[in-house]
Amino acid sequence: MKPGILVTRRLPSSVIARLEASCSLDLWTGREAIPREELLSRVAGKDALVCLLTDTVDAAVLDAAGPSLKVVANVAVGYNNIDVAACRARGVVATNTPDVLTNACADFTWGLILAVTRRLGEGERVVRAGKWQGWGLDYMLGMELRGKQLGIVGMGRIGQAVAEKAPAFGMRVVYSARRPVDLPGAEHMPLDRLLATSDVVSLHCPMTDETRHLIDQKALLRMKRTAYLINTARGPVVDEAALAWALREGRIAGAALDVYEREPIVHPDLLPLENVLLIPHLASATTETRTAMADLAVSNALAVLEGKPALTPV
Ligand code: GLV
Repeated sequence: MKPGILVTRRLPSSVIARLEASCSLDLWTGREAIPREELLSRVAGKDALVCLLTDTVDAAVLDAAGPSLKVVANVAVGYNNIDVAACRARGVVATNTPDVLTNACADFTWGLILAVTRRLGEGERVVRAGKWQGWGLDYMLGMELRGKQLGIVGMGRIGQAVAEKAPAFGMRVVYSARRPVDLPGAEHMPLDRLLATSDVVSLHCPMTDETRHLIDQKALLRMKRTAYLINTARGPVVDEAALAWALREGRIAGAALDVYEREPIVHPDLLPLENVLLIPHLASATTETRTAMADLAVSNALAVLEGKPALTPV
């Protein structure tokens, strides 16, 4: 009998074909995330679960699956939606999709840095609203990147890929991380000093109990009034209410967010602000990368089902 697998969102057809060849596939085809009740009932008796970052996979889901479940394969590099300890306790392998999205996320981070420091969102809104009154020497001035300091918080694969592109824009790099990395020209420093001295602060740490609200009001007050905050990590790393306050009061110059505390809800205080760029969680969203992520998640699931080690366990 083929192993049963639940996939909680449509995946590229080439990836689905791989699954259909060796598994009995139960695919949630809704455009929105699978409802919790549906997840709990459909996971029962499955051997594998391929899930997305929009699915909370906690002890209740694992218990609903029962002892047949061997692997939870997340189609994302971040896995804060999975209770990894609960997986381990039940002998379930949890996997993620590192590496394949690093370049897309690093490119995207630079897109946000350029967009927010050069006020592209604001400019586009003015043009679309028919409010542009013509070129002006001092109209909508932004901040030049050359000669400025980029502070990277969390120097994993994506943080390093962002750092590697900094010389192209003439920025020097400092970073805070648990351990120093071997990246010539990048200076390791404590978070407080990074916040106080950087012109752009970009977050690339995982979401853990330690990093929840790492960027709170105190941290924002440490930043330069002329500095920008970029978040492509996870929403809860930033206290959104505090950020809205800091942006409104001019305590920092601007922010670009790809992730939110309660996606898809955006804190209402952020919405009217001109100095924040709000993007709907798109950092890895290229056709190439999303296909590679789905493919890797499925390879992880199939490996475990075949009794082999997962390619990228967490
Ligand atoms: C996206 O946010 C991911 O973690 O892959």
